[in-house]
Amino acid sequence: MKPAKQNPAGPRQAPRVLIAEDDLDRRIAELAAEIDRDYADSDRLVAIGVLKGSVFFLVDLLKRLTIPVAVDFFQTSSYGDSTEPGEVRIRKDIDESIRGADVLLVEDIVDTGYTLRTILDLLRWRGAKSVRLCALLDKASRRQVEVPIDYRGFEIEDLFVVGYGLDYNEIYRNLRYIGVYEGGA
Ligand code: IMP
Repeated sequence: MKPAKQNPAGPRQAPRVLIAEDDLDRRIAELAAEIDRDYADSDRLVAIGVLKGSVFFLVDLLKRLTIPVAVDFFQTSSYGDSTEPGEVRIRKDIDESIRGADVLLVEDIVDTGYTLRTILDLLRWRGAKSVRLCALLDKASRRQVEVPIDYRGFEIEDLFVVGYGLDYNEIYRNLRYIGVYEGGA
């Protein structure tokens, strides 16, 4: 759950470190090595990020791959919009056809799972040859719908986290670490 809105002009405290920059780097290198191996024989790999949160992770992950990879993006209605839980809207669709491609969906965090479930179903329906999910963070205890995560960075507790792409009202995305938002921004 997203914390209640605070006064954005109020004093800002640095979020408590949950996953440090070094630990992110190390784990992302491991994930990239695994992905590199698994897709070594792929004819066409397309990595698809979900805007905006996944951008920092996607860039760092893909820079470590040695195999050719195309990049595309979805944008969905974000946390805090007036949508009901489970109602996910596509705001920006991918530009490329993914028919016959191996698709790697890259996401910052899987919470209830509704966003990813919707996107995964859509990608399969559009004729991708294979679809796998790479998620940096997994809030497994919050899951409402089943979403298989093929490449998982870290499982975390039910905390509202920010940094490394994740925001609280668009703030904190540029932190180099994953922090816990405890109010006060
Ligand atoms: P889901 O559809 O509930 O799995 O939500 C996934 C989306 O919710 C993520 O892509 C994030 O944008 C957002 N989200 C979920 N938990 C957090 C959090 O702890 N911090 C920031 N954003 C979050």
